[in-house]
Amino acid sequence: MPADDFSLSDDDLVRLRAALRGYTVDAVVEAIGDEGQAALGRNHAVAAQRALGRRDDPIAALTRLFILQDAVPDGVARQALPLEALLAAGVLEHDGDQWRAVVDIRPYGSPDDGADGWLVSDHAATLDTARGAPREDHVLGVSPASTTLAQLTIRHPIGRALDLGTGCGVQSLHLARHAQSIVATDLNPRALRLADLGLRLSGVSAELRLGSLYEPAGNDPYDLIVTNPPFVMSPPSSARLTYREGDFTADGLMRAVVTGAVDHLAPGGVLHVLGNWAHVAGGPWDERLGNWITDTGCDALVIQREVLDPYEYVEIWLADAGLAGTPGYKQAYETWLDYFDHLGITGIGMGWITLVNAAREVPDVRIEDWPHAVEQPVGPALAAHFDAIDPAHWRDDKVLDYAWRLADDVVQETLGAPGAEDPTHIVLRQQRGLRRAIEVDTALGGALGACDGDLTLREILGAIAQLLDVPANDLVADVLPRFRPLVADAWFATT
Ligand SMILES: C[S@@+](CC[C@H](N)C(=O)[O-])C[C@H]1O[C@@H](n2cnc3c(N)ncnc32)[C@H](O)[C@@H]1O
Repeated sequence: MPADDFSLSDDDLVRLRAALRGYTVDAVVEAIGDEGQAALGRNHAVAAQRALGRRDDPIAALTRLFILQDAVPDGVARQALPLEALLAAGVLEHDGDQWRAVVDIRPYGSPDDGADGWLVSDHAATLDTARGAPREDHVLGVSPASTTLAQLTIRHPIGRALDLGTGCGVQSLHLARHAQSIVATDLNPRALRLADLGLRLSGVSAELRLGSLYEPAGNDPYDLIVTNPPFVMSPPSSARLTYREGDFTADGLMRAVVTGAVDHLAPGGVLHVLGNWAHVAGGPWDERLGNWITDTGCDALVIQREVLDPYEYVEIWLADAGLAGTPGYKQAYETWLDYFDHLGITGIGMGWITLVNAAREVPDVRIEDWPHAVEQPVGPALAAHFDAIDPAHWRDDKVLDYAWRLADDVVQETLGAPGAEDPTHIVLRQQRGLRRAIEVDTALGGALGACDGDLTLREILGAIAQLLDVPANDLVADVLPRFRPLVADAWFATT
């Protein structure tokens, strides 16, 4: 019987790493083609299988075994891998006189920060529309949510990082680029075993700890906590999937992650959470989240990227569990909707929560909807937001007496009837970061347009007041409250 603990001796690890040396992202894409790669992204293997054709070299063998979930003949597999060691560790198994992989091992490379290596996870459960629920302790591979979390993470050089709910370890691979030490936790022992194999293969050292939420975090504070926790809000059931749902009611797990962080953050420490939250009848969603955050005393930026109605949400997650097309589908759908009705959940928000333990007397909390395209990775834009919070809190006279310079990426768009002398709308738009846009009137647009770092805002408003023939004080009272929030939104150059 294979050990199923996925643990390899140091010698076997070295042999496996040597076997995987040419098994890179580029080599796999080259072997399966762009269309094969795109089809895999849609969870279909046929395009990649056809691209590989009759190839039986090691890259083809590794791709078939570990990504396409195909069996490979003994002679071909033997050229590619140390088979007996992998059989003993439970990574491979016999299928007649062929070999199959029990888990997915694939190369990983990020153009954003250069993180690279190999990650080990369970096989995608619904490849080629395969039916059947994933095992309860299924370990997810890299998902779009993993990539989004990696891209929104502020990557300053730091000391200690916590990867909460590490899964296959993908966030730790990124954290290794800028953190001196990493603690990676998970409730699922199988996740820790697979993450351990992937991280060791990738030469990343992380301390792996078993336990729920902050339980295994210990007493030493962290400079950065990243998590993409099991945020799916589903009815209580015995068949929960650990990678996506916990035992909490509605978004209780998200709340626990947010409210619990501050006890584990060093001064200035940052928490990034990607997840879902409930829109509950009778109360605005941002107020609910605001209440979670107020208790922490941290600065915060919450960006809601998407809102789903309950039907869309249930359909997505029933399909994810492999239930589409099964006899129990309709009943499961109804049960889920009844659960939402019972809790008064009318919609589900999806987005990003970032907290900074700035210990500010009055924390700066921004909660907003921003469903539009952003520049990725967006982490630097989030960092710029938190950097700009101090000036955004300056007294009015300090804001007025500073010579602001509009950031270089801001452009102006005008809209109006063809041939009209004046535009009906003037919009300023950032080309970078969160790519925010604001509509401006003559006064605010004129003031921003004149912010080139030479004149103070007070001088600019004085000159505009003369042009418009209005009292300068009135113009200040009109423009300043609209100007001030732009400071924290990175509309101005910081140098
Ligand atoms: C959606 S996966 C995210 C995996 C990985 N961090 C990523 O970015 O792809 C959530 C992970 O949280 C783990 N998990 C579930 N409940 C947990 C809990 N109460 N405490 C810590 N981790 C938990 C799951 O086992 C799973 O590995």
